[in-house]
Parts: sequence; C-alpha cells; structure tokens
Amino acid sequence: MYDFRFYNPVRIHFGKDALTHLPEELASVGRKILLVYGGGSIKASGLYDRVTAMLQDAGKEVFELSGVMPNPRTEKVYEGINLCKQNDIEFILAVGGGSVIDCSKAIAVGAKTERDFWQAFFVNWEEAKDAIPLGTILTLPATGSEMDRSSVITNWTTGEKNGYDSDLTYPMFSILDPTLTYTLPRNQIVNGVADTLSHIWELYFSEPDTESVTDALAEALMRSVISATRTALKDPTDYVARANIMWASTFALCGMLNNGKKTDWASHNIEHPLSAVFDVAHGAGLAVVHPNYMQYFCGYAPERYARYAVQVWGVDPAGKSSLEVAHEGIRCTREFFNEIGAPATLTDLGIPESAIEDLAARTDLSCWAYKEMTREDVKAILRMAL
Ligand code: NZQ
Ligand code: ZN
Repeated sequence: MYDFRFYNPVRIHFGKDALTHLPEELASVGRKILLVYGGGSIKASGLYDRVTAMLQDAGKEVFELSGVMPNPRTEKVYEGINLCKQNDIEFILAVGGGSVIDCSKAIAVGAKTERDFWQAFFVNWEEAKDAIPLGTILTLPATGSEMDRSSVITNWTTGEKNGYDSDLTYPMFSILDPTLTYTLPRNQIVNGVADTLSHIWELYFSEPDTESVTDALAEALMRSVISATRTALKDPTDYVARANIMWASTFALCGMLNNGKKTDWASHNIEHPLSAVFDVAHGAGLAVVHPNYMQYFCGYAPERYARYAVQVWGVDPAGKSSLEVAHEGIRCTREFFNEIGAPATLTDLGIPESAIEDLAARTDLSCWAYKEMTREDVKAILRMAL
C-alpha cells in the first residue's frame, strides 16, 4: 500500500428526507445566494419549488443561473462569475447532476480572482487562493462531484475538456435523496452507472495489487452497483436499489478508493475529447472506451484482471490461465453494459472512424497504470471501439 493523505470535509445528508436538512445548512451561510441548475428537470420534478420556498423562508436573497448544459461550457461559467461579482454572492447552491455542480465549482473559484478562470485554473492549474463556498443537492448519481474536489469544464472553441482540483471546491454539504433520482430517464441511469463503475476501475486497476482494504471496498462496491442497477432498471422506484446506486457513485470518488493506490485515469482521458468534440454524454463515452481499454492493457496485469473476474463476476478460474480468466471478466463487463443498454461502439455514439486521429491527438497521455500509454495505444483502443 502506498503512503497517502486523506481529507474530505463534505457533510452528507442522505435519505428520503434529506432535503429537510437544507434550512439548518442555510442558517450558517451568507444571505446572497446563487442558485445554479440545468435545463429544467428540477422544475418538472417540483424540486425547484421546494428549494426556492426553503430559501425564501431562510430570508435569502436569491440570484439564479439556469440552463447549465451537460458537459458544461466556459460561457456558462463566465455568466455565473459575472453574476457573483455584480451581486456580491456569498454562497452557491448547485441543484442537479455533475454538470451543474462542476459549473458551480468553477464559478466558485473564478469569482474570486481577476484572472481569466479558464487560463488560470483549467490550463495553468494554478492553486486557487479563495472560493465562494458551495453546497449541492444531487439529482443524478454518477460523477461523485458532490463529494469530491474536482470540476470538469469544456471549452467548446478550442475543443478541450479539462479538469481542475482544489480543496476549496469541496462542497460544504451535499444533500442526497435517492427519490430525487426517480425522474431520471433510463439512459441517464445507465450513463451514471457506467461512470460510477469506470471511476472504481480507474482506481482498482492500478498498482499496487497487494491485498488491501481499499481494493476489497472497491470489489464490494462494484458488486452492489451491478446488482442494484439490474433491480432499478426493472423497478425504477425500488428505493433500496436507488439508494445503493446513489451512495456507491458518491463513495466511488470521495477519496476512499484512492487510498494507497497509484490510480489510472487513462480511460477518462481518452473519453474527454469524445465529449469535447462530439458532445457525447460522459458515461456513454466511458461505456465504449473503458472495456476496450481493459481488453487492450489487461495483459500487463493479468492477475489483477483475473481477480476482478472472480471477485466481481464470479468467474470460475479452475484450469484456466490468469489471462483467460481476465478475458472472461472483461467479456462479462461488456455483456453487462449490453444488457443495460449502454452504447458499445463509436458508431453508437455517432463518431466516425475519420475522427480517431484527431481524438488521439487531443488525448492527455499523462495518466496510466501498469504500462505507459502512447498515442498509438489510444488510436488502437479507439479502433477496437469502432
Ligand atoms: O439539465 P437538466 O434539465 O437538469 O437535465 C439533466 C441533463 O440533461 C438530466 N437530469 C439530471 N438529474 C435529473 C435529470 N433528468 C431527470 N431527472 C433528474 N433527477 O440529466 C442530464 C445529464 O446531466 P449531467 O449533470 O450532465 O450528468 P452527469 O451527472 O453525468 O455529469 C456529467 C459531467 O460531469 C463530469 C463529466 O465530464 C460531465 O461533464 N465529471 C465530473 C467529475 C467530477 N467533478 O469529479 C468526474 C467525472 O469523471 C466526470 O468527468
Ligand atoms: Zn467519470
């Protein structure tokens, strides 16, 4: 196990009545609040009315930034930064999925500097010195943004999708009510599950592979996600299944599964240009990329992939080599994605073969596990995904 630092200050309110804790959280924050949300799902579900009533009861002055798009773009962040600067915003309340939360985090640091937020934080990765505090109400389990310090923003003009991490962008609190996810369309549930599993894989498939609490937690989480997804897709109002999917997605990126691990993130880096250039949903892109990445690189860590096959998919290893068992586990992974209706190919995502060269050129090669990833590897993986 590698040495590690673990820090996570996010207060979680989880459960059917989690929203009732919003007033106690609002009591300790400033009066001027920026309410950030997406394209309208929170209005359709009635959540907007419930939240704004609570803000009003708490005596807050509310400013709104609506229309945050999936794969949130720099324009929305600039709009939010201007609103914060013009109105001396003291607290940001993000209500939605990862896109709304990530946009809010970028606004939080961008509003406290005179520098251009994109250049300073998402290109130069300067350390933020100050940020507006924020809280979240999560409506889509997937990204883990509600309990992590990351934000991912797309610059549509340059075709870049970059991330930024800061301890200042941990939410102060996050409200997780699984019943708020009942209104999700099936494809968003599936995308969220693909993202959650991909996060766990990015951590689990990396050195060291010695016995560890962290990996045991990861295996338990994967088994729970797979079983809860099957149940939730059959009965979308199964509370226990929804609750397990929600907590697993949050837990996956809260830092606990990083502890003692090198971590990978190459599949995420291959996916980011797909979203940045073709506006593909992040989870959908990962469902295509990650199983191919596993297939391509599993030969460099056959025992680890074989362990995954046995522990997560129940593959019988008797009489087989580690690599054979590893391949069976990866086949189970692809079959599970097919079973739940996740996309399998670049064609499913509307991405032509002619784009591969450009997508590979845009891929950040700085992250990998077991074997350094080259641009040729990225091209080969994307060709496998055709
Ligand atoms: O915009 P609205 O109308 O709210 O609709 C959204 C959106 O269209 C809809 N939705 C959300 N909750 C709903 C709902 N529809 C019905 N009922 C509900 N309860 O779902 C659509 C997708 O939402 P979005 O927030 O884009 O999805 P997700 O949570 O998957 O976020 C994806 C973004 O997060 C980034 C991704 O790259 C992508 O930009 N990530 C952030 C990470 C982080 N901060 O740590 C890590 C991840 O790896 C990821 O990169
Ligand atoms: Zn992700």
